[in-house]
Amino acid sequence: MEQKSKIMQLNDHELIESIQSGNISVCIIGIGRIGLPTALSFANSGLSTIGIDINSKLVDMINSKVFPLKDEPGYDVMFDKVINEKFHASTKIQDVVPNSDVIVLSLPTPMDESNVPDYSALLSVGKQLGELLTKDSLVIVESTVEPGFIENELINSIENSGKKLVAGKDFAIGVCPETANPGQIMNDFEKLPRLVGAINDHAANVITKIYKHVFTVDLIPMPNCKTANAVKLTTNVFRDLNIAFVNELAILFEKVGIDIMTVLEAAKSKYNFQIHYAGPGVGGPCLPVNSYQMINLAKKMGFDTLKSVQVGRTINESMPNHIIDLLRDAFVESKKSLENSNILVLGICYKPDVKDIQITPAEIIIKKLKNLKTNVLIYDPYFKSTNVFDLQTESNLIEALQKSDALILVTAHKEFYNLDPIFLKSKMKNAIIVDSKCIINQQSAKNAGLVYRGLGRGKI
Ligand SMILES: NC(=O)c1ccc[n+]([C@@H]2O[C@H](COP(=O)([O-])OP(=O)(O)OC[C@H]3O[C@@H](n4cnc5c(N)ncnc54)[C@H](O)[C@@H]3O)[C@@H](O)[C@H]2O)c1
Repeated sequence: MEQKSKIMQLNDHELIESIQSGNISVCIIGIGRIGLPTALSFANSGLSTIGIDINSKLVDMINSKVFPLKDEPGYDVMFDKVINEKFHASTKIQDVVPNSDVIVLSLPTPMDESNVPDYSALLSVGKQLGELLTKDSLVIVESTVEPGFIENELINSIENSGKKLVAGKDFAIGVCPETANPGQIMNDFEKLPRLVGAINDHAANVITKIYKHVFTVDLIPMPNCKTANAVKLTTNVFRDLNIAFVNELAILFEKVGIDIMTVLEAAKSKYNFQIHYAGPGVGGPCLPVNSYQMINLAKKMGFDTLKSVQVGRTINESMPNHIIDLLRDAFVESKKSLENSNILVLGICYKPDVKDIQITPAEIIIKKLKNLKTNVLIYDPYFKSTNVFDLQTESNLIEALQKSDALILVTAHKEFYNLDPIFLKSKMKNAIIVDSKCIINQQSAKNAGLVYRGLGRGKI
């Protein structure tokens, strides 16, 4: 086991020397979608790194040299380079933390069924850290949390357990909120600036020096942890709200006979317009959760609710209903009965080209289709021949099309951009298409004889 180098006691020169000579031991707690690439990046920069996770299967897989994140380009090569040299995984937090200089938390921050943020993973690890941290440990939180959580809750959970350590005196703590986009994490880690906030300037300085070494991106100093977390949430809530805006416009434009895609493409020619696209809902572990984190903060501060954000959520959460309305409408035009028909859901991931179905709108659409007594088929290139949402997924797109009366395109995976309307018409039993991402050419669909409904597109 590595010996600690007491990084908080080093002067700038000694610190840089320690970092460059790889004389700093790091542990990353939570080695999932974000934590594993983070751990690999630390190890690849020459720092001895151990990934801690409660998922023993994941830990065994990693230690058997099997890379789990197949949809993150670039990390497979880095994994092969560092595994068992500079990096390994463990379930034993009690063995690793006391010997680590830097403890990075990349734990999940989901929400419960009532949309209340669930910080239990961070708080329970916080309690463990209260027993396991040794003098001069540096804790860095990458997880997305609401402003004030570090100061008011996490620090308390560490200070009030075990050794009764005091933040800023016995251990240092700061944040470097994660902004990477799944599917392109390596690109984002190499290019996107990061925010650094900490309990004091000294901790901020040490975090900045370490992250500069590992990621070589710009590090933006923040006055404290809560401001850094506020920036992170603001960027994602901004996106959630803008998507809600275009989703509402999409429904309006359908009625007026205006194509939202034509409007958006032209609107982006204006210098201060930032394009967002309509869709079947907003999923994933970030955007919906981050809006509710902001709403939660507002409630704690005595705001009745953060009205704009709440309205945005309501719109985005209603989009699966609208997609079903488009389907019903297409069936009426086809003079076919929806009941007992075979509906193919194309794409179940919450975003294109990433194997992730957390909070995906596809799940709600599928539930609604089942309630309408349709037979649901699923085809997703990332979930072939497996069981998802209590359904056995399809393994072959053409065979799935041949069985289908209608399809709903939910996720714009690359594979679906080549779908040719003439091909669809020739394969499907009935040719009804609901295109929630507007990736099929509407005129070509009409010419091919498809009954087509595009989100935000009037009938032509
Ligand atoms: N995935 C994203 O797109 C993304 C982007 C930016 C920020 N974030 C944020 O990063 C954080 C991590 O997200 P993620 O997507 O990597 O989550 P994830 O679910 O993929 O990974 C979290 C890991 O933590 C492990 N874990 C849970 N409880 C634990 C415990 N008590 N001790 C040790 N390990 C534990 C889980 O087994 C899992 O492997 C979250 O706060 C999230 O909001 C995620």
